[in-house]
Amino acid sequence: MSARQMKLGLFLWATGHHIAAWRHPDAHVTAGIDIEHYIKLTRTAEAAKFDMIFCEDAAGLREANINIARQTSRSIGFEPISLLSVLAAQTERIGLVSTASTSYNEPYGLARAFASLDNLSGGRAGWNLVTSASPIEAANFGSTGLRPHADRYERAREFATVITSLWHRKAAGHDGQSFSVRDPLDIPPSPQGAPVMVQAGASDDGKDLAARTADVVFSAAQTLEEAKAFYDDLKGRLAAYGRQPDDVKIMPGVAPTVAATKAEAQAKYDALQELIPDDVGVALLSSYLSISDLWRYPIDGPLPELPESEGMKSRQALVIEQARRDGLSIRDLARYFAGARGHWRVVGTADQIADELQARFEGGAADGFNVMPSWFPGELDAFATMVVPELQRRGLFRKDYEGRTLREHLGLKRPV
Ligand SMILES: Cc1cc2nc3c(=O)[nH]c(=O)nc-3n(C[C@H](O)[C@H](O)[C@H](O)COP(=O)(O)O)c2cc1C
Repeated sequence: MSARQMKLGLFLWATGHHIAAWRHPDAHVTAGIDIEHYIKLTRTAEAAKFDMIFCEDAAGLREANINIARQTSRSIGFEPISLLSVLAAQTERIGLVSTASTSYNEPYGLARAFASLDNLSGGRAGWNLVTSASPIEAANFGSTGLRPHADRYERAREFATVITSLWHRKAAGHDGQSFSVRDPLDIPPSPQGAPVMVQAGASDDGKDLAARTADVVFSAAQTLEEAKAFYDDLKGRLAAYGRQPDDVKIMPGVAPTVAATKAEAQAKYDALQELIPDDVGVALLSSYLSISDLWRYPIDGPLPELPESEGMKSRQALVIEQARRDGLSIRDLARYFAGARGHWRVVGTADQIADELQARFEGGAADGFNVMPSWFPGELDAFATMVVPELQRRGLFRKDYEGRTLREHLGLKRPV
């Protein structure tokens, strides 16, 4: 039995992570605004002893073209801190992590919102710090458009300093470049001391900010080698901030399709792949590559040369690397990307999936995984009833919660 156990998050996403999930015969099309749907999924994850659920966010549509947006699996949804407040009352142990942007919030307001959620849930809240890469979102917060990557990270660094000072009760006041805060918080520390800090962002600036402030890092990687390189890089940056390798848990995304046989799992996956309209696949790929006219290029030709993105630098690099490595056309790449937006996909039996997760976990490439079912609830149920018991049988995952707070589940220190 391995002494070290993996951490598991459930990444919620309306009808599912596959872009065509909403067209699955058993899909629940209005899932994005059905609170009972979210309660059910969160309870399934809690029964399976997941560390946490994880909500992405963007204050705006995910896709500017309405005709495309209405053909994707996440075009409507709730603001996640509000959603998690309801889920806090409907569950007892599972951690509740929400994304919120440093570009479109102020630290005092966000500190209060998360400190409230942390108290309401008995110490189970986490904040996923993002710098927001979408021009669609930018257009909802003024007319100046997306600010440059470096500026967004500069603001994020100051934001993180202020919010952690507020949560850790270290601030006597802050008067800085972007923010000015006079008073301490009007909300006491929760049983876990302060919300868990999660970060998603994998450029150099992103990794540095994570090394300085994050407790958990959510990343995207295709191969074991890429995942390991990211893991070593990030853990290697911790010493500069006086931190230990174990102070940060790295949890790459994984999109599993599981069934009793490999052929059955592949057939389930292929059936979803059949449902992707080309224009929807290419639009999704375009948004992550920060290119607006990818549809002009021949779909069976190679990806054109692209200027470096001011949006998601890390994801653009990952997609280009994959296209070159595997010699993929725009169509192939768009179809692959439609499954999990550049995250790692695994298709197979519970045994095969457990083998793959174990290899990355024990191979120094992950401390756990953020699980991204391709459609809800079917693929979550399959993971919870087939893969989780196999991980437990191997001693790789807990059979029951030992603590009550998210920090306790993750084995993180309480801030002093
Ligand atoms: C795994 C992962 C998940 C992310 N989730 C979100 C999200 O939910 N909302 C958001 O606005 N940005 C999200 N981002 C974007 C980052 O906050 C950041 O803006 C973007 O990745 C550009 O920074 P980078 O070049 O450092 O990666 C995510 C990024 C990664 C790598």
